[in-house]
Amino acid sequence: MAKNAEKITTSFTISKEPLETPPLEICTLGNEVLRKSAKRISKVDESIRDLTKKMLQSMYSAKGIGLAAPQVGVHKQLLVIDLDIENPTSPPLILINPEIIGTSATVTTYEEGCLSIPGVYLDVIRPSTIKLSFRDEMGRPKKMNADGLLARCIQHEIDHLKGVLFVDRVTTHDDLTRELKEHGFQSKDVRFLSSAKSQ
Ligand code: NI
Repeated sequence: MAKNAEKITTSFTISKEPLETPPLEICTLGNEVLRKSAKRISKVDESIRDLTKKMLQSMYSAKGIGLAAPQVGVHKQLLVIDLDIENPTSPPLILINPEIIGTSATVTTYEEGCLSIPGVYLDVIRPSTIKLSFRDEMGRPKKMNADGLLARCIQHEIDHLKGVLFVDRVTTHDDLTRELKEHGFQSKDVRFLSSAKSQ
């Protein structure tokens, strides 16, 4: 899948080696904290950067490519993403107060998974490309375009900030029921959204 051409730069240098005891615990489907909306971050300070670091360590330890603060029980608009977790030197993408300011009319179907619903992988339809505004880990306002897996991952993580999980967007309900059951989750914890709704 196409990777975004824009260069990701951050001031973070962090080991991607999995830790035996990650600093934060990732909540799973059924836990109500995943359904609460996250608040905007008014000041990007050292405590936010410290949380970012802990989220990255927890994400790398779980072998995930994206993690949103509500997944670790923190209701702040903060996301960490790294599509290249096997590469020790490529920097992660840190998104604070991310907002989608444009989406393509073209949609793509792609099989998603989530660290909060381990083992479950299902097709979700989303816009293929997006335009995004956000603040970086130094609080600087930025804009970027994303396509391919990056656009997919950003949209999935932004959903977490609104208390939405990818299973809410799955339109193949038989597959969903089967997959959830197989991995020890319950269908009653899904809150269906119409697939036509974009946000
Ligand atoms: Ni997720």
